[in-house]
Amino acid sequence: MVETQVWRVDPDAPDLEHAPQIIAAAEKLAQGEIVAFPTETVYGLGGNAKLQDSVRKIYEAKGRPSDNPLIVHVATLEQVRDICTEIHPIAQKLIDTFWPGPLTLVLPSRGEVSNAVTAGLSTVAVRMPSHPVARALILASNLPIAAPSANRSGRPSPTRADHVFHDLDGSIAGILDGGETGVGVESTVVDCTTTPITILRPGGISKEQLIEAVGAVAEDPGLTRSDQAPKAPGMKYKHYAPEATMYLVPAGKDRISELIAFEKNNDRRIGVLTTEENRDSYPEADVVLVCGRRSEPETVAHNLFDVLRHFDQKKVDAIYSETFSEDGIGKAIMNRLSKAAGGRVIE
Ligand code: TXA
Ligand code: MG
Repeated sequence: MVETQVWRVDPDAPDLEHAPQIIAAAEKLAQGEIVAFPTETVYGLGGNAKLQDSVRKIYEAKGRPSDNPLIVHVATLEQVRDICTEIHPIAQKLIDTFWPGPLTLVLPSRGEVSNAVTAGLSTVAVRMPSHPVARALILASNLPIAAPSANRSGRPSPTRADHVFHDLDGSIAGILDGGETGVGVESTVVDCTTTPITILRPGGISKEQLIEAVGAVAEDPGLTRSDQAPKAPGMKYKHYAPEATMYLVPAGKDRISELIAFEKNNDRRIGVLTTEENRDSYPEADVVLVCGRRSEPETVAHNLFDVLRHFDQKKVDAIYSETFSEDGIGKAIMNRLSKAAGGRVIE
C-alpha cells in the first residue's frame, strides 16, 4: 500500500507548468512513482516510459496483462523523434492536423522506451494530448510518459478523479484532479506503418475526419470479425463492463419495454441506459440513466463511462441499452458499448 495523494488543479490557471501541484506530481514521476492525470479523453495513469520499474508499476496497479502495450504521451515533436525512427509524410500530416488531440499514432520504435511499454513490439504508440494539465505535467517532468487509462483492467475508463480514486486508491502515488475530462472516450489509435493507414481502435477522432485529412484509411478487420485477432492487443480483452449483465437492443424503445415486462415477472431489478429524448419511455424500469442527447452524440461520449459506473452503485441485475448510429464519434460509442455488453445483442 502507498498513500495516494490528491492534488486539485484548475486546468485554466496560468503558468500551470510551474504550479506546485504539477511540480509535486512531476517529482513523483522523477522518483519512478506513478501518478494519474486528466487528458482531454480520459484520465491516464502515467510513469516514466524509459524506466522499466515505473512501467512495471503501471501494469501491476491496473492488473493489466503484460502483452498489452501502453501509449507514450509527449508534449513536443522532439520527444517523438527521440522515440520513433521515422515520421513519414502521412504521419506528419496527421500530426499537423490533429495534434495536440485525441489521436494516437503507431510508429516504428527506436527502442528508446522500456520494452515493457511496447510489450516487445517493434512499434510504439505515441500521442500528444491537448489537456493543459497533461501538457504541463509532461513539460514539468521533461519525460515521455507511458500512460494507459487509469482504471483497473476491465473496468470503464475514468472520466473523473473520483473514478480513479475508486479503482486505484492505495496503489498509486497520486492523482491530479483537473475535473471531468472532455471527449469522454479514448483516443483513436491509427497504425501508420501500413499503406493506407489502419484504424486499430475507434475514438475521439472519427474515420470521416481522418479521410478528410489524408484520403485512404483502412480499418482493422479484427475489430469486427470474431475469426481474426485485433492488431491492437488491448482490443481483444473484455473491457468497460459494469457489474450487471448488459444487453444492447438495436430495435429500441418498444422492444426494451417488452424485455422489462418479461424481467419484472421474474422479479429482477432492471436498469435502462437511455438518452434525453427517451428519458420518460421506461416507467417500469427500476433505474433509468441518461447518457446524453441522441441529437448530440458528443454528449453521449462525454457521459458514457460515468453512467456505466453509476449502474454498479444502483445494484441492478441486468441493463438494457439503446444503441447509436455509427457515424462520426458514434463508432467509438458503439465499440465501447458493445464491449461493455460483452457482445450481447438482442434483436
Ligand atoms: O485516450 C487515450 O488513448 C487514453 C489516454 C490516457 O491517453 N489512453 C488509453 O490507453 O486509452 P490504453 O492503454 O487504455 O489503450 C491503449 C491501446 C490498447 O488497445 C493497446 O493495445 C494499443 O493502444 N496499443 C498500444 N501500443 C500499441 C502498438 N505498438 N501497436 C498496436 N496497438 C498498440
Ligand atoms: Mg484502457
